[in-house]
Amino acid sequence: MKKEQINDIIGWDIVNWSKSFDFWNKHLDVKDKGYKCLELGARQGGLSLWLALNNNQVICSDVSYTDQQHELDKTIALHQKHGCDQHIRYEAIDASNIPYENHFDLVVFKSVLGGVSIDTGKRLEQQTIDSIYKSLKPGGRVVFIENLEGSFLHMYARKKFVGWGSKWYYMKLKALVNLFDSYKSLKYHTVGFFGAFGKSEKQRQILGHFDTLIERMVPKDNRYIMIGIAEK
Ligand SMILES: C[S@@+](CC[C@H](N)C(=O)[O-])C[C@H]1O[C@@H](n2cnc3c(N)ncnc32)[C@H](O)[C@@H]1O
Repeated sequence: MKKEQINDIIGWDIVNWSKSFDFWNKHLDVKDKGYKCLELGARQGGLSLWLALNNNQVICSDVSYTDQQHELDKTIALHQKHGCDQHIRYEAIDASNIPYENHFDLVVFKSVLGGVSIDTGKRLEQQTIDSIYKSLKPGGRVVFIENLEGSFLHMYARKKFVGWGSKWYYMKLKALVNLFDSYKSLKYHTVGFFGAFGKSEKQRQILGHFDTLIERMVPKDNRYIMIGIAEK
């Protein structure tokens, strides 16, 4: 993929989050498959762009598309910029209550699970993963990349410096893995440590490259990003 495409798909701490492509490509071939795909919590639809660039049919969805037309307009503009909007349609779908059954080859999400319970007063992560399960065809896969609790340093910095950091539900690696108990298989990898602390994308880029160098020295459950594929 071209650098500009990767930047538009990933958008933040690009060096660390784009390691997802190495992992996914090892376990999954999406090129020219014509897969039926759903992206959840897409906002600007980065993963929809990835799947559409590879000639799959995508529903790009976000619960916010009902009342945030400006978000949807930006998303459509991004997909048009890359000339792949003919492969994508848009829906406002609640990830914890997906109105499809045995339908998709792939369901994808990036940085969504920690936000599904905000404003509801209920824990909806398990319900979301179960709702995805129901929406997949037998043998279909959920392909995702999600924030983790990481280390105490990550949790401290989020509380101290990021307003929404106290609302987002950062899961421990083990708790996130357990959500997929009903799936046939789950393959995953964790990456990223210092990249999360960069204040600009330039800083995150430098820190992301440093993370690549020291990755083996950082305990798996202290890293702050989980990349996964689970099969129904
Ligand atoms: C942190 S943003 C991530 C956006 C995008 N996936 C990305 O990586 O740039 C979380 C997104 O999840 C959406 N969201 C929150 N709760 C949701 C739900 N129950 N169903 C679907 N989307 C939801 C929000 O509207 C928001 O766009």
